[in-house]
Amino acid sequence: MSDSSKITVLVTGAGGRTGQIAYRRLKERSDKYITRGLVRTPESKEKIGGADDVHVGDIRNSDSIVSAIQGIDALIILTSAVPKMKPGFDPAKGGRPEFFFEDGAYPEQVDWIGQKNQIDAAKAAGVKHIVLVGSMGGTNANHPLNSLGNGNILIWKRKAEQYLADSGIPYTIIRAGGLQDKEGGLRELLVGKDDELLNTETRTIPRADVAEVSIQSLNFEEAKFKAFDLASKPEGSGTPTKDFKALFSQITARF
Ligand SMILES: NC(=O)c1ccc[n+]([C@@H]2O[C@H](COP(=O)([O-])OP(=O)(O)OC[C@H]3O[C@@H](n4cnc5c(N)ncnc54)[C@H](OP(=O)(O)O)[C@@H]3O)[C@@H](O)[C@H]2O)c1
Repeated sequence: MSDSSKITVLVTGAGGRTGQIAYRRLKERSDKYITRGLVRTPESKEKIGGADDVHVGDIRNSDSIVSAIQGIDALIILTSAVPKMKPGFDPAKGGRPEFFFEDGAYPEQVDWIGQKNQIDAAKAAGVKHIVLVGSMGGTNANHPLNSLGNGNILIWKRKAEQYLADSGIPYTIIRAGGLQDKEGGLRELLVGKDDELLNTETRTIPRADVAEVSIQSLNFEEAKFKAFDLASKPEGSGTPTKDFKALFSQITARF
């Protein structure tokens, strides 16, 4: 393949747990993709290998992400506000840990303004496809995750999803179930809509599978202008998903 037939893809949140996997896998497929990563700090850049294709920028500051986005064909958004546990929690004493968001790093600033900044910059740069990874649970304003650190995280994520769907840019919105640090490629993947999967036993998925679906969605028209919930059957039950075109073809919802 000549360079002109490769697509240039930026993974943001490339130092995050799913972002790292997506960034690494794209780089492994260098016959098809020219890969870039965006991380927030030089430390995160070092953590993922420190290559020149890793840009350091803060999605809350539009100016700092322009150079990473300039010239890309596709953007995979894997940034998210990250709740921190309040110090002093002792599991031996029972109860639940409390969480907080750092000042300026609430979901409103990261999952809404930060994602919006990326979408706006991508639109200005003529990006042809945006994949946004969000979370299941967004149909329920009273979902317990919204009380976490008073962040309303699912509400702000949903607002960014709507902004992307209204942007006019071809998009894929992936609303993942509970993320697991388990091996990918071993499970049958399930797509759904309107949080219906949350009422079933299958509402988790390995981060590696979410990363793979994000990448695969770049390859198929069937994934464009689609929004879907994503989970997996337990390993050993069902047939591991290999045909992503068929998976994306099952999705009918645009939002
Ligand atoms: N946890 C779950 O069970 C679950 C379930 C469903 C969906 N999801 C969603 O799935 C996605 C991936 O989750 P994950 O656990 O793999 O992610 P993660 O490890 O929490 O990574 C999030 C990344 O976003 C980056 N980030 C945060 N603020 C930023 C900023 N202002 N500028 C640039 N980068 C910034 C972080 O960088 P730093 O490392 O520098 O802070 C981090 O690398 C997230 O949207 C998450 O909400 C999670």
